[in-house]
Parts: sequence; C-alpha cells; structure tokens
Amino acid sequence: TGYVTYDPGYKNTGATKSAITFLDGEEGILRHCGYSIEELADQASFLEVAYLLLHGELPTKAQLDAFEESIKKYSVANAALLKIAEAIPSSTHPMSELSALVGLMEGQYASNEPAENILRLLAALPIFAAWNYKKSIGEPIVAPDQSLDYCSNFLKMMFAKPGEAYQVDPIVSKALNKLLILHADHEQNCSTSTVRLIGSSHASIFSSISGGIQALFGPLHGGANQAVIEMLEEIKQAGGDTQKFVEMAKDKNSGFRLMGFGHRVYKNFDPRARIIKVAADDVLTALGVKDPVLTIAQELEAAALSDDYFVARKLYPNVDFYSGIIYRALHIPTNMFTILFAIGRLPGWIAQHKEMMTNKEPIGRPRQIYVGATPRAFVPMSQR
Ligand code: CMC
Repeated sequence: TGYVTYDPGYKNTGATKSAITFLDGEEGILRHCGYSIEELADQASFLEVAYLLLHGELPTKAQLDAFEESIKKYSVANAALLKIAEAIPSSTHPMSELSALVGLMEGQYASNEPAENILRLLAALPIFAAWNYKKSIGEPIVAPDQSLDYCSNFLKMMFAKPGEAYQVDPIVSKALNKLLILHADHEQNCSTSTVRLIGSSHASIFSSISGGIQALFGPLHGGANQAVIEMLEEIKQAGGDTQKFVEMAKDKNSGFRLMGFGHRVYKNFDPRARIIKVAADDVLTALGVKDPVLTIAQELEAAALSDDYFVARKLYPNVDFYSGIIYRALHIPTNMFTILFAIGRLPGWIAQHKEMMTNKEPIGRPRQIYVGATPRAFVPMSQR
C-alpha cells in the first residue's frame, strides 16, 4: 500500500485549508470567519452572512445593499427552466427536482462571469423551490417580488394565493432568517466536500452545486430533517413511548438510528441545535402553534441523553433534530425540509467552491487500498 493512508469516510483527512468556518467538535464551537454562530444567528440577516462567507468580512451597509440589489436583479423566472420544471412528474422528490434544475442552469448561464453565476444561484434556489411547491398543490406560480427581502420574497412565492393580498408575517420571516443562517456553512461536510470535489475537475459551478444538492438529500446528511419528523410522527402514532425507540436505536440489528442525533465532528452539543431548540419553543409560542411532536422530541432527547449508550458515544441532538418542528410551524411541507437546508447551505457551498478555485487546488482524487484478486489467467467462456 506504500504511502497511502487508509481512512474510510475521511474521518481524519484534512483535504483542504480553509479560512471560512472554524469548528471545534469537542467544545461545540462554530464560527464563520471568526464570528460566533450565536451572534450571527441573533443579529445578522441571511444575506449578510452569505456576504461574510463569500468575502471573509461583514459588509458595510452600502455593500450589503448593493449585494441584495444585485440578487434581486437576477430574481426572475427563466422561461426555459420553468417549462422543464412543469414537465417533471410531481412524484419526483423536491430535492431531485432542485438538483436537476440547478444542473440545467449550466446550459442557460455557464458562459457568464463567475460573480454573476453566484448571484444567479442565490436568486434561483428560492424560485425553484417555490415552483415545486406550487406545482405540488396545483396553484399557479407567484412571481418574485423585488420589493421584499430574501426571506419574505421566498415566503410570498410559496404562500401567496392568486387574487389574494399577501402579508408576510414578520415572526415567520425572522424564524426563517435564523434557520437559514444556522445552515449557511459547516466546513467539509459531505455535500460541501462533494461541491469541492466536482468543482476540482473544473466542472461548472452549476454542476458542482447540483451534485452538492444530491449529497445533501441523503438521510444521514440533510435528509435527516425530514426523517426526524417522520420518526417523531411514528413515535406519536405508536403511543408516544420514547423509551421504546431509544432502546431500538441502541440495538444495532434493528436497522434504526435516532434521526437528528449524532455527528461526525461534534462530540458535544451541536451549537446550532441549542439555538434551534430555543427558537422552536419561541416560534411555536409566538405563532400560537401547539405541535405534539415538540413534546415528543423533548422527551426523546431527555431519554437519550440520560442513557449510557448515547452518553458513552457522545451522541447529542444535531441541527436537524428541532429544525423540522419549526419548518412545520411555518407551513413548509415535510418533503421540502431538506430544500430549506439547501437554500441555507448554498452560500457555504459557493464560498467553498470559490475558495477552492482561488487557491487553485488540484483535482480531488482519493487513493484506495486494493483488496481484490491477485493476478490470474483469463478463463474462456466455455470453461466457466
Ligand atoms: N442512533 C444510534 N446510534 C448512533 C447514532 C444514532 N443516531 N449515531 C451514531 N450512533 C452510534 C453508531 O452506531 C456507532 O456505535 P458503535 O461505536 O457502537 O459502532 C457510534 O455511535 C459512532 O457512530 P458512527 O456511525 O461511526 O459515526 P459517524 O461519524 O460515521 O456518523 C452520523 C455520523 C451523523 C452519520 C450518525 O451519527 C447518524 O447516522 N446520525 C443520524 C442521522 C443524522 O441525524 N444525520 C444528520 C447529521 S448533522 C447535519 C447534517 O450533516 O445534515
């Protein structure tokens, strides 16, 4: 095997140097360009954080205004892509559709400037997501409203009804803003590594982000937020016995894991989960929503955290554990939870792609340890 190090799942491989996100899994610390996730989630807007990730510095008021305006400029429906979106069967999961549409942006825009493509992507994801939702409920699409901020525009495209006035609820747009910030970047996770790996072959940014969306789709990654709600619903339907599900998750033969629990890097509370847990309580109270699965989630968390199995393995709730409960209170359908994760993660993917290209990183190409057959003579078909 020579100098090749065996590291399945890249648990100990630093594949790049990055100046974007700092993560200390033992202490449960997350910072973007030096700023704590707690302060950003509390005080910044999502596009402010996007700017920070892309440029390494917080924007001045003028810089942020210009950034927001330039994204609004690109917030228009692309007629060719809309036609394709309409033709995608509604049985398709929204994540597959989103990945396809982003990949197809290649044919529409790839000849443009990289800086322009970044703005187009930031503008396009909420539009594609809203198209998908409107198709699923059989309503006409709502045009982007360039007078609104990023979150409010998305909510309007999702929930405005034809012929009815629509007022964005500030509680809802504030909650959405916070959730998107909490997902904005998380260093070399599976989808971000995918974006960098695809981009390292000098495929277009659209191909890279399209691949990142597919990686995020998996239930061990972003798909966990959908899986958590489905699990909580299952517990509710089974009578609410959380202990039974904790026991099942401990049994390796059950094939069941506690979704929204555990993390590759955090061996302590996921700082995002701490913030989301408080936000879930606040948002549901502010909106007057009583969701029985919130109580089940709280009981499940308490049961797991007092169990030796979870304590010994340092398994804590992660970002996906409480996020779905908030999305649900905001009327986001369950199969779109991971779409919200993708919209949130987009600035991180783009920033990491940009960093990789700026640093002229070599093509990503892991090695392997060969464990197959030793040399042998070809056996003619008649003798097999
Ligand atoms: N329920 C039960 N046991 C678990 C869980 C869980 N959720 N997570 C890890 N374990 C056990 C695992 O069986 C192993 O036990 P042992 O040491 O006895 O073999 C030990 O804990 C270490 O787990 P691992 O699978 O080696 O850890 P990993 O770093 O490869 O996987 C993970 C991390 C997030 C994929 C995993 O914890 C998991 O599957 N969690 C559930 C899915 C989930 O919530 N994913 C979202 C992750 S955070 C946000 C994101 O990336 O989208």
